[in-house]
Amino acid sequence: MVKHLVPAPVDANSASADFWRRYHAFRRDRHLETRPDDPLLPDDVEESKLRQAHNFEILYRYEIARDGEMLSWLGCNTIKPGAPGYESNRHVLHAGAAVLRDHRRQGVGRAWLPLVVELMDRHGCTILSVNADEESGHAFLRWLGAEARLSDAESRLQLADVDWSMVDSWIADGETRSPDTRLEQYDGPIPKAMRAEYAAQLSSLLNTIPFEQLDHGEIVITPPQMSEWYERMAAVQETSHTVVTREPDGSLSAMTDTIWSPHMPAVIHQQFTGVRPDARGRGIGKWIKAVMVRRVHELYPEARWITTYNATSNDPMLAINHALGFRRHRAGAEYQISRDDLAKKI
Ligand SMILES: CC(C)(COP(=O)(O)OP(=O)(O)OC[C@H]1O[C@@H](n2cnc3c(N)ncnc32)[C@H](O)[C@@H]1OP(=O)(O)O)[C@@H](O)C(=O)NCCC(=O)NCCS
Repeated sequence: MVKHLVPAPVDANSASADFWRRYHAFRRDRHLETRPDDPLLPDDVEESKLRQAHNFEILYRYEIARDGEMLSWLGCNTIKPGAPGYESNRHVLHAGAAVLRDHRRQGVGRAWLPLVVELMDRHGCTILSVNADEESGHAFLRWLGAEARLSDAESRLQLADVDWSMVDSWIADGETRSPDTRLEQYDGPIPKAMRAEYAAQLSSLLNTIPFEQLDHGEIVITPPQMSEWYERMAAVQETSHTVVTREPDGSLSAMTDTIWSPHMPAVIHQQFTGVRPDARGRGIGKWIKAVMVRRVHELYPEARWITTYNATSNDPMLAINHALGFRRHRAGAEYQISRDDLAKKI
């Protein structure tokens, strides 16, 4: 029944008005299915995001459409040759796909497989990595024979429920327990002069995240990548906020960052939080998180919740988040399958 459905590549920079109409109808349907109570990104912002340049990644996007309707969407990416961390990450192709609700269980999802294998072969990738947080996605990936190798969850903190006296006590405790540690706050990009130091510490801390059984390379962040993030964020009016601490020798010992945009004023995205292993156990994690919650609440009184994603095995981070009032909102898993096992399914 789906034999005549051919995947078509999408280039967001030359896409027609017809494409955008199909695309926005598709994403509205997906939004209603998965997050009906959440705000939806305005169409023009979504379009600019898809048009943005990515200097460190190779991105592919495809659609399957019929009679003017987008039935399915596939996005894939892998690290670009020469990008920082290329050698240890080049074997992984990341992919995400969705099929419109009314067109599932008719082989559309399966129709993507030959193309995915072709893209893996084009770039020499040996592992496919896919995230799922919907029952249909888990079922499809289990059918495929992929293994769930990292369990993760989105948690949310409702700002109306925050215990502000506790937040202030975390700040006071942080200052008391580490009297020689200095805390710094940055609204907007980290200053250029500080990026080499920040990128090195961020890379080192990101590599301490528990990845469970996930096959993954080393995470390497550099100042040019940070500049690209900030350019992309500025293009869609996103603002980042960062809180860091420094030890008496001047070295960075902890960091946490968030993102907010006027297109989705109710939501603050909590990004990464990390404390250097030798500075753990002094309440610095709670201190920087508490300062951040105070700061974003003051800057964005219209914000209703903070959202964050964590590996469900990340006990220290989850303990702090839970104490602050974060509660699990959705759970998912990252699945992986080898190129050869995938090819056998075609
Ligand atoms: C995952 C998804 C893309 C699958 O698309 P699809 O077109 O329904 O998949 P197919 O028809 O090719 O299914 C292939 C096989 O997977 C299994 N499968 C797929 N969905 C299933 C479900 N909901 N329950 C049980 N098994 C399922 C079946 O064995 C199916 O073969 P069968 O119908 O002959 O029994 C679709 O369900 C979807 O869009 N889900 C939401 C997005 C998502 O979770 N994406 C992440 C995973 S890529």
